Order: sequence, then C-alpha cells, then structure tokens
Amino acid sequence: MRREIAAVRWFEMDVAKLNNRDNSNISLFTALGVSLAALYAGSRLLAKNGGREPVDFRSKVILISGGSRGLGLAMAKEFGHQGSRLAICARDAEELQNARELLTKEGIEVDTFTCDVTKKNEVEALIGQVINRFGHIDILVNNAGLISVAPLDSLEDRDFEKAMDLMFWGPFHMTMAVLPHM
Ligand SMILES: NC(=O)c1ccc[n+]([C@@H]2O[C@H](COP(=O)([O-])OP(=O)(O)OC[C@H]3O[C@@H](n4cnc5c(N)ncnc54)[C@H](OP(=O)(O)O)[C@@H]3O)[C@@H](O)[C@H]2O)c1
Repeated sequence: MRREIAAVRWFEMDVAKLNNRDNSNISLFTALGVSLAALYAGSRLLAKNGGREPVDFRSKVILISGGSRGLGLAMAKEFGHQGSRLAICARDAEELQNARELLTKEGIEVDTFTCDVTKKNEVEALIGQVINRFGHIDILVNNAGLISVAPLDSLEDRDFEKAMDLMFWGPFHMTMAVLPHM
C-alpha cells in the first residue's frame, strides 16, 4: 500500500476579519495553531510536481476537520471554488448545516459529518462515512483547533491537556484512520 504524507501548506488568511472578531491578543496556542497537515494520496501527483508546481485541486476529495466556521470554512470555500469535493466535520450539527447551506449556495459540492476528533471511535466512524459517500479521500486538512488566551498563571494542566487532545491527538486519530484509505 502506498502511503504518502506529502505537503504542508500554510494559508495566510485574515480569519479574524472573516469571523468579524478581534484576535489581537497574543494566543498561547497559536504556535500549535493551524496544523494544516495536508495528506495527499497519490505520490504520482507529487512526483509529477516535485512540490514545485501548484496542485490541481479540481475533483479532489478533501476532508476538512473544523470546517463549519473560521479558517476551516474559509478553506472549504477556497477549495470548493477550485472545484474540490468537500467533506467537512465538526461537533455542532446546526453550524455544520449553516456551513453546508452557505457552500452549496456558492455551487460547491459538500457533505457534512458530526464528529469529535478527540474521540478515536468517532473519527473511525467518520472516515467510514466519508469513504461511503465519496469513495475515497485525497486530502486531509487537520484544522480543528482552539485558541485559548489567558495569563499563564491562570491556566491549569487541564487547559493544556484539552489543547493536546484537540490539536495533537485529533490530527493523530484522523491521520491514522485516513492513511489506509489513501
Ligand atoms: N483564527 C486565527 O486567526 C488563527 C490563527 C492561527 C491559527 N489558527 C488555528 O486555526 C484553527 C482554526 O481556528 P479558527 O479561528 O478557525 O477556530 P474556530 O472559529 O473556533 O473554529 C474551530 C473549528 O473547529 C471545530 N472543532 C473544535 N473542536 C472540535 C472537536 N473536538 N472535534 C471536531 N471539530 C472541532 C469547530 O466546530 P465545533 O465547535 O462545532 O466542533 C470549528 O468548526 C485552530 O487550530 C487555530 O489555533 C487560527
């Protein structure tokens, strides 16, 4: 089985503006922030590009965690406008529905899935559902995360554990569940 972890691409977007909120505070977790680990199946695609030319995202099946709002939704729009077929996941079903309506109105093919990425069993179920729906997954974007801002001395171990659950174990569960299908 061919397994390729290919490219990490950083998207610089003014998400604060997009969400109409002020993120001017220094975020403790921004450094962990956008783990846009883009997992590309298709080593040939990369071999062709050698990582130098832009990737053609048309018709690619892209799974975006935390795609219901913020940076995840912004990426969903961007990929969607480039012709990708999208699966987005988050915990809140209503927000997912709003995102689906917004993207569909823009002519983007998208399906939504409720999933808590910190829970391995939910992630495994999610990947099964996405494969059933789209047949395969080309790219995984591990975007779900949180920005927690507070003075250091008011934070407890639990705050760091929560961040690790979401921004380390989340991408780990997602990546390990997706790889066998790539
Ligand atoms: N905004 C910025 O300027 C900025 C800058 C640098 C880095 N980042 C990073 O970019 C990522 C997204 O930030 P954002 O500002 O777009 O955040 P956001 O607006 O709060 O969106 C977070 C997304 O992740 C989902 N999510 C949160 N916990 C989840 C879980 N356990 N399972 C599945 N989905 C979950 C949320 O939906 P539910 O709550 O419904 O699950 C939502 O869709 C974060 O990693 C952040 O650190 C953001």
